[in-house]
Amino acid sequence: MLCGRTTRRVCSGSNVTKAKWRYKKNARSVSTTDSLAEKLTEEFAINLKRHLEENRYTNADKAFKLILEKLDADTRVDALQYFRGIHAVTEAFTDVPGANKHENQRILAALNDILSQAHSECSTASEPVKIAVTGACGNIGYALIFRIASGQLLGPNIPVQLHLHDVPAAEQALLGISMELEDCAFPLLRGVKTFTNPESAFEDVDYALLAGSKPRGKSMERKDLLRGNATIFLEQGKALNKSAKKSVKILVVGNPANTNCLVLKSNAPNIPSKNFTCMTRLDHNRALYQIAKKAQVNIHDIQNMAVWGNHSSTQYPNINHVLINGTPATEVIKDPDWAVKEFIPTIQQRGASIILARGASSAASAASAIIDHMRSWVYGTRGEWTSMGVISNGEYGVTPGICYSYPVVASGGQYEIVKDLQIDPFSAECLEKTHKELLEERDAIADLLS
Ligand code: NAI
Repeated sequence: MLCGRTTRRVCSGSNVTKAKWRYKKNARSVSTTDSLAEKLTEEFAINLKRHLEENRYTNADKAFKLILEKLDADTRVDALQYFRGIHAVTEAFTDVPGANKHENQRILAALNDILSQAHSECSTASEPVKIAVTGACGNIGYALIFRIASGQLLGPNIPVQLHLHDVPAAEQALLGISMELEDCAFPLLRGVKTFTNPESAFEDVDYALLAGSKPRGKSMERKDLLRGNATIFLEQGKALNKSAKKSVKILVVGNPANTNCLVLKSNAPNIPSKNFTCMTRLDHNRALYQIAKKAQVNIHDIQNMAVWGNHSSTQYPNINHVLINGTPATEVIKDPDWAVKEFIPTIQQRGASIILARGASSAASAASAIIDHMRSWVYGTRGEWTSMGVISNGEYGVTPGICYSYPVVASGGQYEIVKDLQIDPFSAECLEKTHKELLEERDAIADLLS
């Protein structure tokens, strides 16, 4: 995390908003010509160097030098785009006088994350990163795997090896997918292995994306589904514990995602709790879109969205802390009933609405959310919030040990729950309702927890 003397003279109030706004616009513009990009890079170098010297950020300095060397050798457009982003962030915190510690830290975190992302993506790794995907033959698997293999998860310079896992009945389908992957001739794909045994599938993996689960049958009760899928995650927890790297980052997607994650973690004691997450990013993204539509702004104008609790219809998408270009959403959206009467039920029921409309559950949007979740975790959120189901340490009165979705920020490969937020009585009730549901789910499969 960048910190130090600079923090005293940077960014406050509306200037911060303007600076961030400018950063976002600049960072996301890809139409600039290469010569302008070079100019920006040069300016960035001067700006950043000055700040690094002032603040003795040795790690950032190393990263900066490596990136620059790489850029000289190979002026790839992708790398230049990152530099444009870095330049704009640097500009944001050089220009703006005043001091607002919180906002300043956000901008510095953004700079830090962009640097480390550029560093990782610009350095040519020789060893492929091993990524396991379970339920590889399912709808989400099919929408996800090709994106990973093309570099959309880890970036354009990191080779990957895929470990595709599904049930024995899907062996032929696994073969078909691996043949299609070969036919894409993805330069970053350094091997595809297929498995029907989780212990072999997880051997030495860096990331485990777990979508494999049973769908809900016609006459099936929710508790039957809960138990059926928890059994899968019990077996996979033991397999991860035995075979995966201890540093493996795990994302549970298969439903009921929070409780499956709890079962997984409980059966993998050698892997730190912080490495287990479940996916509420799709709910988070759905919420961002609904807010953008209502306020008639772009997605990037929205900050501090948070989805709390269970990935189910009791989840609480909370708009109270949301800022739209720095102004509270509750002030921008001049419709006091909208959040409770429309927004919250829309997000809570969105999965069911998709099934009704499409005749099948969300798959492409879920795959996209998996990519977003993992990129945020690995490359940081640049000071922004995102939502993740994580193992609770009791934050906001949640029972320690259960998997609960919180607002988090991530940097340097680690996430932190956003602390000390004010929770109004309505929100407290919603947080408790979804908490209670998670406790009931936990109690229903208590015998599967170690
Ligand atoms: P799908 O039914 O198309 O695919 C599931 C795949 O899992 C199948 O290929 C099946 O053979 C496989 N599978 C079943 N048991 C397995 C086991 N023991 N080990 C490995 N693989 C196994 O389902 P889809 O659409 O791909 O969704 C996957 C899961 O993701 C579902 O549980 C769904 O409810 C959940 N989901 C979660 C979301 C979230 O936001 N957390 C969003 C959308 C879906």
